[in-house]
Amino acid sequence: MGTDNISSVMVIFGGTGDLTHRKLMPAVYNLLYDKSLPENFCVVSVGRRDKTDEIYRNEVYESIKKFSRIKIDDELWKNLRDRIYYQKFEFNDDYGYSKLKDFLRMLDDKYQTNGNRIYYLAVAPEYFELIVEKLHQHGMAENEKSWQRVMIEKPFGKDLNSAVYLNKKITDVFTEKNTYRIDHYLGKEMLQNIMVIRFANVFFEPVWNNKYIDNVQISSSEMVGVENRGGYYEKAGALRDMIQNHMLQLLTLTAMEPPIDLTTDSIHDEKVKVLKSLKELTPDLVLKNAVRGQYEGYRNEDRVSPDSDTETFAALKVFVDNFRWAGVPFYIRTGKKLPVKSTEIVIQFKPLPGVLYFKEYGGLMPDLLVIKIQPEEGVFLQFNAKRPGTLNKVIPVRMDFCQNCQVGMNSPEAYERLIYDALRGDSTLFTRWDEVEYSWRYVDKIAEVWKNNKPEFPNYKPGTWGPYDADELLLRDNFKWWNIGGFYDENV
Ligand SMILES: NC(=O)c1ccc[n+]([C@@H]2O[C@H](COP(=O)([O-])OP(=O)(O)OC[C@H]3O[C@@H](n4cnc5c(N)ncnc54)[C@H](OP(=O)(O)O)[C@@H]3O)[C@@H](O)[C@H]2O)c1
Repeated sequence: MGTDNISSVMVIFGGTGDLTHRKLMPAVYNLLYDKSLPENFCVVSVGRRDKTDEIYRNEVYESIKKFSRIKIDDELWKNLRDRIYYQKFEFNDDYGYSKLKDFLRMLDDKYQTNGNRIYYLAVAPEYFELIVEKLHQHGMAENEKSWQRVMIEKPFGKDLNSAVYLNKKITDVFTEKNTYRIDHYLGKEMLQNIMVIRFANVFFEPVWNNKYIDNVQISSSEMVGVENRGGYYEKAGALRDMIQNHMLQLLTLTAMEPPIDLTTDSIHDEKVKVLKSLKELTPDLVLKNAVRGQYEGYRNEDRVSPDSDTETFAALKVFVDNFRWAGVPFYIRTGKKLPVKSTEIVIQFKPLPGVLYFKEYGGLMPDLLVIKIQPEEGVFLQFNAKRPGTLNKVIPVRMDFCQNCQVGMNSPEAYERLIYDALRGDSTLFTRWDEVEYSWRYVDKIAEVWKNNKPEFPNYKPGTWGPYDADELLLRDNFKWWNIGGFYDENV
């Protein structure tokens, strides 16, 4: 990876927070290891707690040691260590910004960073607007001779109205081109691979349509509950936390048309078309095709209301109403306290005419293509073959390509790719505003109906696949959820 023209200072607001320690600093270190960090680069972290550069650097060292995918090398660390700085101030403190501004100018001279900035907002969403406004007031967000970019963590709004408002506030200061809305799933290797698998292989793209595909299942399951994020989760729920962003992104990549080229806008244009083609949701359809659940025990979690109606599970049946996909259901599900941690896309192909291999052959299983996003990364193809022996049985067999099982394959973390791309000014793996807008439009319709209909919660036991209604959603169509996370055997 080249590192030309990306000299810059990365300013992390929320530099003492969990995200910075667990993901951002290890990502910066791994970029250094991969020789993908510019020579002229340094990091300034902003937090509220009182600490010196030295103390902060030691804490960062411990975090990298704990969370980095590449073991920390003390020689290499020295190279980064002295380029990390800490500044303490409250986000509403004008004096703090003017001090920071002077400090950044000094760093420009020291590291030849030309005034280029990445402002990473690793903070709670209520601070996004304030920080951007302060950067503007202090003349830190625009400079004709250099570039200033803002990276914003999710959630981007809590509904369409708040997202529109936030977007206006941000784009009044930073242009769309300099606004990097993070959906960290897009930084994952296998998400980037979906387009390659689809558009670089002759045997997938010709059958990628309603003539050959019966249904598509997109699942993202977690084994953990809300842990210490109850306060945030109460206001979000599975719909806002997962479906509006990650799950709909997975859907767009699975369903999009080939872009005319690989430029950022061409790819985003095709993704937006998918969101625009989602079949309009009426309240009746929401009641029929959207299932929510809450695990037993959620209401006892820390900072969760004892009569909470927040969903920890959501399953949807969605139609992409365009020429390629008309009539093919896309089933989406996500939840906490499910049996495995896994994110996968299962493509179920249509059965062949049942004129040759009937029951006496053991019946025919549908062909499946499974794209494994995490924790295992790869592609899994299940198809029918003759069972060896004298009995003419047909059995499903598998071809399994596991990308991260191979020795030496250690996929970069999503945040490495995202920081690297933001440094280069490539926003392909970030969400363009209209993607955010159309996904909120869709999700808001569901949220509205759910708000007006009280659920019977809790309705699933931890360690199960959510409420029965989620199974029923597919049984009605004579389908069933394929087990994910490597447990395909139960289905064959
Ligand atoms: N953690 C994750 O894995 C994760 C994953 C995906 C997205 N995100 C998103 O990333 C963002 C940050 O999450 P997080 O988990 O890192 O949060 P966190 O651990 O609570 O950290 C918040 C940071 O903001 C600082 N801060 C808060 N209020 C401040 C104020 N008034 N003035 C100055 N500094 C202030 C805190 O500084 P002090 O500690 O010094 O007070 C701390 O550095 C959120 O938007 C979250 O949704 C997080």
